[in-house]
Amino acid sequence: MFQPDLFKGKTILVTGGGTGLGKSMCERFGELGANLVISSRKQDVLDAAADELQKTGAVVLPVACDVRKPREIKDLVSKSLEAFGTIDILVNNAAGNFISPTENLSEGAFKVIVDIVLNGTFNMTQAVGKVMRKAGQGTILNIVTTYAWTGSGYVVPSAAAKAGVLALTRSLAVEWAKHGIRSVAIAPGPFPTEGAWSRLAPPGLGFEKKMKKRIPLNRFGKHEELANLAAFLISDYAGYINGEVVTIDGGEWLKGAGEFNDLEKVPKAAWSLLNIMRKSKKKV
Ligand code: HXC
Ligand code: NAP
Repeated sequence: MFQPDLFKGKTILVTGGGTGLGKSMCERFGELGANLVISSRKQDVLDAAADELQKTGAVVLPVACDVRKPREIKDLVSKSLEAFGTIDILVNNAAGNFISPTENLSEGAFKVIVDIVLNGTFNMTQAVGKVMRKAGQGTILNIVTTYAWTGSGYVVPSAAAKAGVLALTRSLAVEWAKHGIRSVAIAPGPFPTEGAWSRLAPPGLGFEKKMKKRIPLNRFGKHEELANLAAFLISDYAGYINGEVVTIDGGEWLKGAGEFNDLEKVPKAAWSLLNIMRKSKKKV
């Protein structure tokens, strides 16, 4: 479907590029000739992912960076420019999330998600946007969710933050177009990843089965489906797409918006149990 050298000479920076969907996107971008910069908080995870991604033939630079920390972002951008001379494409994919009744959330619980998802996306966009404006070109792809526009109970910090990222995408599509910068977004439905499943579909409660039942196509997304969509959207094939969010969810949100609203049926005792399990895990 794509020219094998589609991204030859292009540098793509993917936050959260060492795991899950970020890593799968990197795999596809690498196969298509890109230079890759992957970042997240854990250097060991990034190094292991870089070893794997190099097998695609890509040159991969793994740099630890917390998207909440502008100083670390400055260092990430400097290292990327040192290695590759430019950053053509930024994929804001890093995120944090968990399920919880909203009344149980502390101020810190709300803040941690908004800081990673919304403020982190802004911080990265601001730092890399400077490079792109100077170059007079660039593409920013933000990974949101379908509940960014519908909202969803039980994931309120994430829903609020992703809605902000969607607004950021559409706003900059207009404001920064004059600098040759396109802004686009993808809204995935459920795609199995360790990061999402461990936090959003804890085993033993039947969440996974119920999640699948909500999807008209009756299956979860495949990583390569999302990776191919991302490759298209950041490529010149999509050069006239600006400010758009593309949904890839098997029709899920149209059948019933707000992926986690059904958690209403989870009894209070189960929430307490989940909380105890989380806290004891944290202590280990
Ligand atoms: C209630 C919680 C909580 C939970 C944490 N907190 N987990 N509150 N329920 N399950 C609260 C803590 O008590 C604390 O509040 C505050 O949040 C910060 O928690 P920490 O554990 O200290 O934060 P930190 O170690 O920085 O970890 C951040 C994290 C963690 C977001 C909580 O889960 C993480 O590192 N996630 C990164 C990866 C991730 O989440 N991937 C999934 C993306 S999936 P106090 O009051 O003590 O400060 C996704 C998919 C959406 O987005 C759609 C799917 C279909
Ligand atoms: P994931 O593997 O947990 O990805 C999240 C990534 O973000 C991790 O690599 C994590 O690495 C990184 N990260 C978290 N906090 C960070 C911080 N402060 N600074 C830098 N990096 C940070 O989960 P995923 O499912 O692949 O999610 C990827 C994206 O897809 C997210 O934006 C998510 O909201 C979106 N999405 C996923 C689904 C799904 O069903 N999987 C559905 C809709 C949307 P570290 O822990 O090493 O920092």
